[in-house]
Amino acid sequence: MTVSTTTAERVVIIGGSSGMGAALAAALVGEGAEVVIASRSADRLADTERALPEGPGKVRSLVADITIEADIERLFTEVGQVDHVVTTAVDVEGVYQPVASFDVDLARKTLDAKLIGPALLAKHARIAPGGSLTFTSGIAAYRPSPGSSIVAAANGALESLAYALAVELAPTRVNVVSPGWIDTPIWDAIAGSAKTERHQQLSARLPVGRIGHPAEIAQAMLALMHNPFITGTVLHADGGHRLV
Ligand SMILES: NC(=O)c1ccc[n+]([C@@H]2O[C@H](COP(=O)([O-])OP(=O)(O)OC[C@H]3O[C@@H](n4cnc5c(N)ncnc54)[C@H](OP(=O)(O)O)[C@@H]3O)[C@@H](O)[C@H]2O)c1
Repeated sequence: MTVSTTTAERVVIIGGSSGMGAALAAALVGEGAEVVIASRSADRLADTERALPEGPGKVRSLVADITIEADIERLFTEVGQVDHVVTTAVDVEGVYQPVASFDVDLARKTLDAKLIGPALLAKHARIAPGGSLTFTSGIAAYRPSPGSSIVAAANGALESLAYALAVELAPTRVNVVSPGWIDTPIWDAIAGSAKTERHQQLSARLPVGRIGHPAEIAQAMLALMHNPFITGTVLHADGGHRLV
């Protein structure tokens, strides 16, 4: 069996301007890959591109909203065939809310980014032989808390989407990383000033005794991208959160 460690791979990361997506871009540039980071904000992309560590690889930015089909179609027309496509994209601003105050527009925005967006990637990406799609679900699907119902549902549905796509798009491989709590900018939207306290509370319960780092999720994604025998799999990188 050969486990590929190919360099000069071409990888598109939607959500590459922050958190896990930016950490994956950094790791890939270090491996010599050609990376395209995409998200909605040109400024955010430019800041991230400037902050990425030097490496043998190359990075460039393209503005695209994963919820808009024309953006995704244009993105892949521009980049052509690639080896791997990854999405971490979501904007959870306002979506953690009790079902009693359920806001349909916010809920749809989350579902569009986490579920319909990945389906649009599957529709428009041209993946080279041996390549893969990697999506990002999350612990809310397994350990929901009050107020997280839409995020939990989106994550669970995304995993089912990946199983179905792994069959339909074969031999392209389709996998999911399900992160636990990871210290990224998303927490400013989820918890604001309560972020540190909530992280400390969970850290005390987790088997690993701490919240995760974005680079640890990037490593999980690389494992799925580079192992040619893995498809239709959800890799839990959650510090044991599902056990407590
Ligand atoms: N951090 C955690 O604790 C945690 C736990 C479980 C699951 N997750 C999941 O992990 C994934 C990554 O989270 P993260 O913590 O890395 O988040 P993050 O730091 O907030 O990054 C989210 C990225 O998505 C982009 N984005 C948002 N909406 C988009 C859209 N419609 N189209 C294109 N790009 C969009 C953002 O850039 P722009 O604003 O420029 O668009 C940003 O680059 C998410 O799916 C999240 O649900 C996170």
